[in-house]
Amino acid sequence: MKRVHLVLIAFLMLFSNTVFANEGMWFLMHIKRLIHRDMEKMGLQLTPEEIYNINNQSLKDAIVQFNGGCTASIISDSGLVLTNHHCGYNAIAELSTESQNHLNNGFWAGSLQEELKPESLFVRFFVRMDDVTERILSKLNDNMSEKEREAVLNQEIAKIEQENNEGGKYTVSVRSFYQGNEFYYFVYQDYKDVRLVGTPPKSVGKYGGDTDNWEWPRHTGDFSLFRVYADAEGNPADYSKNNVPFKATYHLPVNIEGVKENDFAMILGYPGRTNRWMPAEGIEQNVKYAYPAWVEGSKLSMDVMKKYMDADESVNLMYTSKYAGIANYWKNRQGMIDALTAHKTAEAKRKVEKKFNKWAHKKTNKATYGNVIKNINAYYALTNDKAKHDNYLISLLRSSKFSVLPYRIGKNLEFYVSENEAKRQELLPKLQGLIASSYSDYHLPLEKEILAEQLKLYTSKSNYELPEMITGLAKDNSIEAYVNAAFELSIFSSKERVEAFLAFPNEALLTNDPLFKLSIELLDQYRAKPDALEQPTNDFQKSFRLLVEGLRVSELSNVKYPDANSTLRLSYGKVRALPKDPRNDAEVNNYTTFKGMIAKYKPNDEEFDLPKEMLDIYKKKDYGRYANSKGELPVNFLSDNDITGGNSGSPVLNGKGELIGLAFDGNIEAMAGDVIFDKNLQRTINVDIRYVLWLIDKYSNAKHIVDELTIISDK
Ligand code: ARG
Repeated sequence: MKRVHLVLIAFLMLFSNTVFANEGMWFLMHIKRLIHRDMEKMGLQLTPEEIYNINNQSLKDAIVQFNGGCTASIISDSGLVLTNHHCGYNAIAELSTESQNHLNNGFWAGSLQEELKPESLFVRFFVRMDDVTERILSKLNDNMSEKEREAVLNQEIAKIEQENNEGGKYTVSVRSFYQGNEFYYFVYQDYKDVRLVGTPPKSVGKYGGDTDNWEWPRHTGDFSLFRVYADAEGNPADYSKNNVPFKATYHLPVNIEGVKENDFAMILGYPGRTNRWMPAEGIEQNVKYAYPAWVEGSKLSMDVMKKYMDADESVNLMYTSKYAGIANYWKNRQGMIDALTAHKTAEAKRKVEKKFNKWAHKKTNKATYGNVIKNINAYYALTNDKAKHDNYLISLLRSSKFSVLPYRIGKNLEFYVSENEAKRQELLPKLQGLIASSYSDYHLPLEKEILAEQLKLYTSKSNYELPEMITGLAKDNSIEAYVNAAFELSIFSSKERVEAFLAFPNEALLTNDPLFKLSIELLDQYRAKPDALEQPTNDFQKSFRLLVEGLRVSELSNVKYPDANSTLRLSYGKVRALPKDPRNDAEVNNYTTFKGMIAKYKPNDEEFDLPKEMLDIYKKKDYGRYANSKGELPVNFLSDNDITGGNSGSPVLNGKGELIGLAFDGNIEAMAGDVIFDKNLQRTINVDIRYVLWLIDKYSNAKHIVDELTIISDK
């Protein structure tokens, strides 16, 4: 009896590993070989070719990268693009003014003519990919230093890009995977005339704000709609009135039948970064040195920004997107510190590395892998303080506009000053363009305060070697006075002053400019590569590559897919509840309801306020065909897909490849997920497509948009 049991358990374990694998971010070209059978067992009804085909239309034609950092999908044959509200946020804020505040009030274009073009926004279509590992590795050998390796690599990469870009028609990107053990190239086509079609008000699109961010139960209408435009031939084109809506090769049908526990769910998108192969001491360094500095630096900037944003709506519109971006990763990094500590992730990794080290010291492996762990650990021990320092510095550079701007413009001015009059005239238009774009949308008092506060934090917290100029300031306790005086004197403190400099260039003025000098110091410090670290860095890079190679050869790692690096991936799993939660009124804790959203409403609260119309419509309960079988309006739902930042806006698809939702977040308790995937904890938080359609159709009266979609329903 017992034996039978054991066999059964062993069988079930095997079964659960292979059939219900929710871990993994897979390449589309590997679907057939690696995951198709598994997906079929779970409910996929498409062939690999229906998902990824380079000769005929396939699902991949409807998936785009959105403005570099998010994902979106094409949902009509006239180029309608669906992404998250937080992905469109920057564009929506840019298109808003105090009197026409689309961010606060929402916006729906009544016709194509009313669609709004933000300054810069692009979508990237994926054309194809291929494996170039053998080609690249054949050019490299074990005797090369990491620097030599990189030089040869870059040469070969440039050739591959050249061979595949079809005379500039495509953008080609060769990327390394498994820490430099494999290489693939990706061919893309970018469209840069992308216009805003519609968005719910921020109170709906960002409902719950930073309090609910990264949390479940969730009630956020996190979507916005854009449209891709092309020239008359369907090719990418700069903005022009004559451009026409892009005729999509393929668009996603939308299924409004609803989801239930265990339904198959797959997500295609552009996950940004995971570190599933990161060594134990790297995790430790992040938890103890890098992330705490990141969190502290971010919070400091957030507090300064918030003060000015709350006082003036025009300042709020200028900074709200930047603030949201910083706040998002502020909470994320604290969540990572907490989760990695609670789950003892570094310890778990140390155990694997111990096994690896044993394997590495076997006679046949020793020559290649014997020093791997030793080198890796030595490197981290040497760079802990630097990691802390770098993170304070990065937080300064990321949040202070005037820490970077003088350098960027100043380096161009140096060149300008050194040229004769004729050459200067030639350089002028480009410089003027750079100046115009650099000096839009900022608030000087805020910028001065951020720079001073960040400098104070950076100098006080970093026990790492700082540039003399900066230590001097800190010693005299004169940072504030210095920053004020610098802005008084600098030619970079306003657009008018830089322009005046263009008219009367003067080399000495530039070289002695205080903001320029500070900016140079900070960026030099950022790029500095201390001599003492050269050899350890070289050994570390090589050892990390060998660690990943060795973990794969020895099969000591169960990670079977490459880390995310903003390349297109497929993740499959299912709709999956978390344990029952008293905060969620829904019967099963895998979705939330409109009723639950209204229950969180707090009048005049920054995060939980709602428009009056929303409360009115709630009383009517007019959910139409978007209600579930219980008569509720579903808002968000959970699935167990393996995704990360960058997947925001990704379509969630059922077994037929029909759109059932929009991925927009992860749950805070699984925040260690970027380093170790936890199959029991990790969830993806999605907007239910029925809520999206209800918001467009019933709440916003934009039925003409719903009419553009291909809707699958038996209602
Ligand atoms: N956590 C989400 C992500 O990284 C972003 C959510 C934006 N919402 C917010 N309240 N900041 O994809």
